[in-house]
Amino acid sequence: MSDFINNFWSVYVAGITLAGIVGCLVLLVITARKKVVSDEENTTGHVWDEDLRELNNPMPRWWVWMFVITIIFGLLYLTAYPGLGTYAGKLQWSQVGAYEAEVEKAKAELEPLYARFTAMSTEDVSKDNQAMAIGERLFMNNCAQCHGSDARGSKGFPNLADSDWLHGGAPENIKQTITQGRIGMMPPQAEAVGSPDDVRNLAHYVLSLSGSPHDSLKASLGKSKFTACAACHGMDGKGNTMLGAPNLTDDIWLHGWGEQAIVDMINNGKMNEMPAQDKKLTPAQIDVLTAYVWGLSHKPAAAN
Ligand code: HEC
Ligand code: HEC
Repeated sequence: MSDFINNFWSVYVAGITLAGIVGCLVLLVITARKKVVSDEENTTGHVWDEDLRELNNPMPRWWVWMFVITIIFGLLYLTAYPGLGTYAGKLQWSQVGAYEAEVEKAKAELEPLYARFTAMSTEDVSKDNQAMAIGERLFMNNCAQCHGSDARGSKGFPNLADSDWLHGGAPENIKQTITQGRIGMMPPQAEAVGSPDDVRNLAHYVLSLSGSPHDSLKASLGKSKFTACAACHGMDGKGNTMLGAPNLTDDIWLHGWGEQAIVDMINNGKMNEMPAQDKKLTPAQIDVLTAYVWGLSHKPAAAN
């Protein structure tokens, strides 16, 4: 109702509801007053199918009382609960309120449990079965749509189960990533690199860094152009977790592998975002998720 610009519809609906109840009452009173016809036959005079006649008996007492009770119940209900337009009802009950009360109750129940995890180290939490069961559920509900239910990611969405990290894999890095989100930003580099041929040669040099199949002549021609990249990816191409710049010397490709993918990367750059979760999750939930994610690449030896 609150979506309307004025309260016309609220009054309209409340009016119809009340008019309906009053109408029922009036009908009841009128029919109750009607005297039983005292001719000996006591019929309404209507005849169907030649000899089928309608008797004119009063309504049974119990039925009349049921009717009255229903009306009283309706009026009491409408006083207590929201039902008359935007009137909130004496009890102030609402679906939102009921939902919030439930959430509060669940939070209060879980608080001691989370408090236990908060007091533990990330490593210990990652070995706690109960914490990991909660972590898995949180991950499925909040993270799996992007990172996959096995956390192995897909193109553009990093694999969280390996030990290659854009933004660092220590518990405090992971916690910061989840809490504040991250932006991975590589501006287009074509201008800094030079001609399309220079870009292609550089792409082969980048492929050579990870020992991927490449043309070694082109790679050697492209090598000097890597200075444009070194500020972020490092002279040796091993990346920089402070900037979220990936390691180019491993065989892990967030945005696709091969000459064309790298040429596109150099020409177009990339802007990738991990959304901050601090509005959606409590700090205690983020602690458990941090341990869950950390644990994915630190499985105890026995589990391997
Ligand atoms: C809307 C999609 C999306 C959702 C939802 C999402 N992520 Fe991410 N996440 C990303 C993207 C994209 C990146 C990569 C950011 C970049 O390229 O710098 C990322 C990066 C990360 C990283 C850093 C990986 C690294 O190598 O440093 C971690 C850790 C992470 N996410 C954990 C989570 C967790 C835990 C959740 C659930 C609470 C979550 N993400 C939910 C899209 C998402
Ligand atoms: C300003 C910093 C910056 C510079 C300069 C830069 N990059 Fe990047 N690069 C990044 C970041 C950050 C990412 C990750 C983007 C993301 O999070 O999705 C990236 C990603 C890449 C990727 C994708 C890696 C993968 O796993 O798919 C390639 C390839 C790449 N850069 C090559 C280059 C080359 C070649 C140059 C030099 C011409 C260069 N970059 C210059 C910051 C930079």
